[in-house]
Amino acid sequence: MIALPDFPWDRLLPYQDLARAHPDGIVDLSVGTPVDPVPPVVRTALAEAADSPGYPQTYGTPRLREAAAGWLRRRHGATVDPADILPTIGSKELVAWLPTLLGVGPGERVVLPELAYPTYDVGARIAGAEPYAADGLLALGPERVPLVWVNSPSNPTGKVLPAEHLRKVVAWARERGAIVASDECYIELGWEEQPISILHPDVCGGSQEGLLAVHSLSKRSNLAGYRAGFVAGDSSLVKRLLEVRKHAGMIMPAPVQAAMAVALDDDRHAQEQRERYARRRAVLRPALERAGWRIEHSTAGLYLWATNGTNCWDQVRALAEKGILVAPGDFYGDAGRSHIRVAITATDERVDAAVMRLQ
Ligand SMILES: Cc1ncc(COP(=O)(O)O)c(C=O)c1O
Repeated sequence: MIALPDFPWDRLLPYQDLARAHPDGIVDLSVGTPVDPVPPVVRTALAEAADSPGYPQTYGTPRLREAAAGWLRRRHGATVDPADILPTIGSKELVAWLPTLLGVGPGERVVLPELAYPTYDVGARIAGAEPYAADGLLALGPERVPLVWVNSPSNPTGKVLPAEHLRKVVAWARERGAIVASDECYIELGWEEQPISILHPDVCGGSQEGLLAVHSLSKRSNLAGYRAGFVAGDSSLVKRLLEVRKHAGMIMPAPVQAAMAVALDDDRHAQEQRERYARRRAVLRPALERAGWRIEHSTAGLYLWATNGTNCWDQVRALAEKGILVAPGDFYGDAGRSHIRVAITATDERVDAAVMRLQ
């Protein structure tokens, strides 16, 4: 049996019950699941591809891989050959299985951020490797590691890693033969800072050697329910992932491939969604500040990383008593024990209700 941590969200259930008891109902700012409609162009593409009796391609259709390459070029200044793109069934499965798919194993350490999305840790454990939380690579000394995760903008903190920082990570990793996996699922949600992809020439120097960028349409296009993501980068690594995924049946359904291609080609719906989140962020942030919370980082992404100096679970309780459910910072590492993570993903009506209750 693989020893995995308790599923963190189960620990939040009593507070969910407390928040639900509010006479005007719960405002759920915990998980960060999209609540706005799937864009009509994407739904149409899904429906038009509904008659899909045959097996889809693990590699993804050329149409899908070209759309992903086009989006990376157009929106993020990264030139990637469509051959070096591979669809994934959402990005969480890739995060959880990447160490295993790459052959990382016992006796090896996978580096991940100190405050991080819990699945990097889980993925290392599934592979039988050891998760190692460190923001600075110097702490590793001369040790060689197979895989380093970076996540910018960060879940949970909303911090953006500047190009210079990412360049240093890439140089460090290349010197030692480590792979850098960059989880960029919030890259389109820069507010006060513009996130940059690991595959941008200013970071990677024009070569994708040793690099993988992990992308998701869950947040950009409200496609969390479709399970739509992709990984792009180093040609030989993508080929290796493709080989194993073909054997293992890790295949994105054909209608989702068709829908995802259309979503990647269309920037208009993504801009509209950005504007929705911008508005919610603009009202929630000052409301939390007026109620005694300080917001740290949070210059990009879908979350406000907040603290009032007390233990995170006391903060969770105080807000649950107002009917507002948020995530405790210690879900993301010990360093988060005095913080909460507040998602900006509720409807305008629910966000306005939270603002009222914070007054
Ligand atoms: C940092 C990070 N990576 C990956 C994911 C997984 O997203 P999905 O599987 O929906 O693509 C999430 C989801 O919230 C996340 O916060």
